[in-house]
Amino acid sequence: MPDTASLALEAQPQTLRIVPTGGPFGARVEGLDRTRPCDAATRAALNRAFLDHQLLVLPGAPMTPAQMRDTSAIFGEVVPQLLRYKRVGELPEVSRMESTLKADGTTDKTAIRAETWHTDDSYMAAPAKGTVLHALQIPSRGGTTWFCDMYGVYAALPAATRRRIDGRKAVHAYDTVRAINRPSARTPQEIAETPDVVHPLVRTHPETGRKALYLNFNRLDRILDMERAESDALLDELADVARQPRFHYGHRWTLGDAVVWDNRCLMHRVDVDYPVGEERIMLRTLLRGDRPA
Ligand code: SIN
Repeated sequence: MPDTASLALEAQPQTLRIVPTGGPFGARVEGLDRTRPCDAATRAALNRAFLDHQLLVLPGAPMTPAQMRDTSAIFGEVVPQLLRYKRVGELPEVSRMESTLKADGTTDKTAIRAETWHTDDSYMAAPAKGTVLHALQIPSRGGTTWFCDMYGVYAALPAATRRRIDGRKAVHAYDTVRAINRPSARTPQEIAETPDVVHPLVRTHPETGRKALYLNFNRLDRILDMERAESDALLDELADVARQPRFHYGHRWTLGDAVVWDNRCLMHRVDVDYPVGEERIMLRTLLRGDRPA
């Protein structure tokens, strides 16, 4: 067996075609062989496209958890995820996300919450810069994952609203009374790892320098130094702008797709509208991020 170093030396540049989705953002990457080691030039091209397009669809065959981790690592450091019960065997960096709809109308708690616009991990001091989701089992119809362009939402706000929110900070928590559904229960260790955190309401992307509104309908509890009623009203007003379809792109899954997106400038949500009992299983990885600023 060749070792990792010799595999890396053998890696050859791949000829990629980056095809925009036709929506407000996002692109499909054609020509990437996810089973081959990724050379430096291909890695650089993919990371450039990630920043330019905010979301990339990487089609291919279903991957093992280890292949999923290695593909994700093209875009950054793959980090362990909070909820231990979702972790895949020996790989704490890969979670198995089951969103199959059961006969009683329920699914995994976090899948129900994922119906609402959110960004991953904002209850962490340094939330994941990106997420990779990989379709292992998909239902025969439905289950589209939607994404919202938070650069675009910020740019579309009236100047007076931007003046109200620029420089403001907000409290993000594992759960908030503002969320419609409750999240998965945490173990005592997981609770200790997730104290409430404060993030700017408008963040500047550390790589592109662009400003994005930083919302999370499931985790953003309140704006600091504002009465709850005023904070709720302002957050509702901002949420209404983010709900406008002109900022959205919907990814309709094909088995084996991997989608990588930038949590620093996108929110996402899923349609839980698929047939009962048809399996919907994804693998998920998270990429290390910075403290929002
Ligand atoms: C999520 O929001 O974490 C999951 C999205 C999906 O399952 O499509």
